[in-house]
Amino acid sequence: MDAILEQKQKAALEAVKHVKDNFIVGLGSGSTAALAIEALGKQVKTQNLHIKGIPSSYQAFQLAVDCGIPITTLEEHPQIDVTIDGADQLTTELFLIKGGGAALAREKIVAAASKQNIIIADQNKKAAHLGANNQFVPIEVIPFALTPVKQKLCELGAKPVVREAKGKLGPILTDNGNAVIDGYFGEIANPADLAVKIKMIPGVVETGFFVGLTDIAYIGMDNTVEKIAKQRK
Ligand code: 5RP
Repeated sequence: MDAILEQKQKAALEAVKHVKDNFIVGLGSGSTAALAIEALGKQVKTQNLHIKGIPSSYQAFQLAVDCGIPITTLEEHPQIDVTIDGADQLTTELFLIKGGGAALAREKIVAAASKQNIIIADQNKKAAHLGANNQFVPIEVIPFALTPVKQKLCELGAKPVVREAKGKLGPILTDNGNAVIDGYFGEIANPADLAVKIKMIPGVVETGFFVGLTDIAYIGMDNTVEKIAKQRK
């Protein structure tokens, strides 16, 4: 197994230990969250674990169904016991950037509905400041508003790039039918403040900043798993 995949796997296996019988579980998106979904699927099949999953994307939905995890909805269960999700970048304060897979809006809705949020990642995702290493901030935008939103993002100091689809011509469309602008801001001094400013722009649906939402992060390292825990305010 390649080293990064092994780090993701170790983090995923730590996170699923938090899932108890009869839990409602928020299912994150991306390659790391997929490993947690697969691990939970195995427990459902072989250890008689009774859970219901609320997927944060079509990717998570399809994988959960393939793995035999019963699916439920926020209508039936507006409060989730625990959500396990990945991240594109995280700091030791547990400030995150998410949305590399364009699932940021649903991921944030699921996280906000969760009593506990656990983030899993490989060691490359750690950074001293969000925006370091040319990490962009995904921003979900109603397509009608793309150009004015790009202009406002420039005024906030970003280089905005509309994310192009792969396997389809034109911009990527999210599970909600929206476009994504990747905002390159450089290192971000105050993510919470910037998140509010971006969210105020008409046409912006959601930003990839996750601030004050995460309880625990498990970061897979070569020989161990680092745990970072924070008291949510
Ligand atoms: C999807 C996400 C993912 O959790 C994030 O992009 C990390 O993905 P991966 O685990 O594949 O690196 O936010 O919108």
